[in-house]
Amino acid sequence: MNVLSVASEVFPLIKTGGLADVTGALPLALDGNGIRMRTLLPGYPAVMQQLTKPRKIATLTSVFGDEMRILAAQHAGLDLFVLDAPGYFDRSGGPYVDTTGKDYPDNWKRFAALSHAGAEIARGLLPDWTPDIVHAHDWQAAMAPVYMRYTGLGHIPSIVTVHNLAFQGQFGPEIFPELGLPAQAFSIEGLEYYGDVSFLKGGLRTAWEVTTVSPTYAQEIRTPEFGMGLDGLINARASELMGIVNGIDTAVWDPATDPHIAANYGPGALRARSKNRQALLDRFGLADGGGPVFCVVSRLAWQKGIDLIAELADWIVAEGGTLAVLGTGDQGLEGALLAAASRHRGRVGVVIGYNEPLSHLMQAGADAILIPSRFEPCGLTQLYGLRYGCVPIVARTGGLADTVIDANEAALSARVATGFQFAPVTADAFRQALRRAFTAFRDPKVWARLQNQGMKSDVSWKRSAERYAGLYSSLLARV
Ligand code: ADP
Ligand code: GLC
Repeated sequence: MNVLSVASEVFPLIKTGGLADVTGALPLALDGNGIRMRTLLPGYPAVMQQLTKPRKIATLTSVFGDEMRILAAQHAGLDLFVLDAPGYFDRSGGPYVDTTGKDYPDNWKRFAALSHAGAEIARGLLPDWTPDIVHAHDWQAAMAPVYMRYTGLGHIPSIVTVHNLAFQGQFGPEIFPELGLPAQAFSIEGLEYYGDVSFLKGGLRTAWEVTTVSPTYAQEIRTPEFGMGLDGLINARASELMGIVNGIDTAVWDPATDPHIAANYGPGALRARSKNRQALLDRFGLADGGGPVFCVVSRLAWQKGIDLIAELADWIVAEGGTLAVLGTGDQGLEGALLAAASRHRGRVGVVIGYNEPLSHLMQAGADAILIPSRFEPCGLTQLYGLRYGCVPIVARTGGLADTVIDANEAALSARVATGFQFAPVTADAFRQALRRAFTAFRDPKVWARLQNQGMKSDVSWKRSAERYAGLYSSLLARV
């Protein structure tokens, strides 16, 4: 079975968040299930520079009249189709924002062009490969099923996976005439959303199936609280909605072989972790306060509850904890964290920036990772934490609720606990969870049991890849 994955970022070529980890790992995980997944992504400079021996296999004209090329390449075990369209993608900023952090004004064009190219591949653009199914990720690819539906390809199964409903790709109605779609596509059955054009809404409406990245988030987005205005539509499609929890690439994230950490270790050999703990403290200029070393590796955004971390930093230090934060994002949140660091030199350390190798050392060296998200479709850092013996302390929402087993009395005595959960997402509830963590940490046996139990959890893609494979088969059976 051939599946075309369409995505705006793919690890290790280009990554701003968990989406890239997923689109970079799922094709490899599906391999053993008889599925040949190939991935269409934009030819950003970072991507073009890393390709070895790209081959031009097709040219096409975008809906906006530009000439574009499809290059085929292989990278890190992935079979890629790269959309070479310099006018759209050869830019000096990130994938979505310019060097000053502002959205590119033509993002709608850039990602409509990507999605349209995906639809054309489904039509048979390429000489020797045609997908049986098109699998589009997030709003940047969500126009693929829209183009398919309205240009005679509605008979080919399509899937939209929602990685984060907060990002919808909503644009003014004036762009509609330029999208090259028939007038009826600008309706409630298509792209129209309160008078605007919404790429994600169009995809959710037109794809054969909608998936999201955890069962709990799949339930949550049916409610006004988490539905971001799309809960009505999501409820209408509830029978074609599935939550499949993300796995992680257990080869990239393996403490036994990880090249980015100070000392490698495996389950049952936790003592070697202390070298990583020391390396982490050194890297951040921190001293052990006697309590746990907590880390945060995150986009600094309201979604992630980072304000609560800044709010509790003084208390954490007073209790003997140490805090190391790696992240970038909202300037107000960066400022609040930096202020905490300057109040508590040697006990709170903050690195503003994006640093993949350092993120590995943090998972390998910290005692616990803090993830107080207000919503979290899946979350990957708690999965890395589990695998690395870095105990996750998480809000009970979305994929965090589905992947961490709270250290309540029952779970502790049954020896199945892997972390701490709290709800609601308030400073008080978070503090209570932290207090439980401080208590557990004081008993090295209890703490080691949490770590070992986490390291034993299956965070691989195996089960979830089987679920995607099952979904693909069921869609093909309907053709
Ligand atoms: P989201 O995609 O919402 O940001 P996830 O938890 O799914 O959240 O994925 C985030 C990914 O980005 C993880 O791989 C995490 O390690 C990584 N990450 C986030 N911030 C940074 C950073 N500042 N430096 C390095 N990696 C980061
Ligand atoms: C999004 C979500 C995150 C999820 C990731 C990969 O960025 O915010 O929760 O883990 O996508 O699916």
